[in-house]
Amino acid sequence: MSNSESIEQLAESANKDLAAVADEKALEAWRITYLGRKGRLTAVLRSLGEVEPEERKKIGAAANRLKAELDRALATKRSDLQQARIEQTVQAGRIDVTLPARPLTQGRLHPVTQTLREILEAFVAQGFSIIEGPEVELDYYNFEALRIPKHHPARELMDTFYIDRRDESDTKLLLRTHTSPNQIRFMEKHQPPVRVVVPGKTYRNESTDPTHEWMIFQVEVLAVDRGITMAHLKGTLFEFAKRLFGRERKIRFRCDYFPFVEPGVDMAIDCFICGGKGCRTCKNEGWIEILGAGMVHPEILSSMGYDADVYTGFAAGLGVERIAMLRYGIEDIRHFYTNDLRFLSQF
Ligand code: FA5
Repeated sequence: MSNSESIEQLAESANKDLAAVADEKALEAWRITYLGRKGRLTAVLRSLGEVEPEERKKIGAAANRLKAELDRALATKRSDLQQARIEQTVQAGRIDVTLPARPLTQGRLHPVTQTLREILEAFVAQGFSIIEGPEVELDYYNFEALRIPKHHPARELMDTFYIDRRDESDTKLLLRTHTSPNQIRFMEKHQPPVRVVVPGKTYRNESTDPTHEWMIFQVEVLAVDRGITMAHLKGTLFEFAKRLFGRERKIRFRCDYFPFVEPGVDMAIDCFICGGKGCRTCKNEGWIEILGAGMVHPEILSSMGYDADVYTGFAAGLGVERIAMLRYGIEDIRHFYTNDLRFLSQF
């Protein structure tokens, strides 16, 4: 029997066997028999070395043609078998093609992050730039440089978490109680005009209640230039409040005391729960305080090397969670950080 005859026989036998293949397991056995590393066609191709050169050309070409044919036949059979299996499964009722697909759950921004971004946009639209500062802060920037020396009663209102230092240095480290240290950090390095907003986390040793958390986000606002007055402070903060709360909300300014401003104020919005009548959320006050503000103390301007006879400025510190509460009608600040998806997925 010549090699070319054996190729014809091989083709016939391969096609016959393939026609009898009824499942994927048998198909794999067929592939190994004819096309595998030790398969029958592979054996023919390997034996070509022993054949006369003239014959080798002919048989080689015929063997390669057969290999291509068998590869194609294998692929077709495989796909036919898969299709048949799917049809069988569907007919057996194991796949209900009418069942709606499971919805893809999509993540979204935390309501505090959404609010923070809206606040920043309101100030960027008024010409402010965004900068950031450290959360672990030196006592000097958090208190001393802001005219809150050791033993000053204002420290009582802002107790925080202190970090023990192993070295003997006197530079105390703490988790910042507000974003105001960035007023000093920025003015130390820049000359007026200044227009910056500083978002970030702040910490207080605080017992929590519906409007108090021990970790909150604040946004510091600082503007210093020639001729800045209280009217600029009010105008800028009104514009921000209008953008976030709409025109119908009432805004209240009252005198307040912060050692680093003179005069100092706080700004409150009428309570969204009781409409100003008084309730648990506003502690019967009818108002919810959202920020402290004031004109930068001239002593601070001078200590930064600014001429306090030429330059004036205003600063404000906004509480982001309180603003988010008012935006979304949330009656307890503690919901934000319990990470309950039933709460978070509403925003
Ligand atoms: C300050 O932190 C000052 N640094 C603000 C300031 C900046 C005044 C610049 C003058 C000039 P105060 O402690 O009042 O002030 O906090 C500011 C705002 O942060 C509050 O109005 C409130 O909205 C929010 N806030 C403060 N403490 C808490 C708390 N424990 N829980 C929730 N919100 C708080």
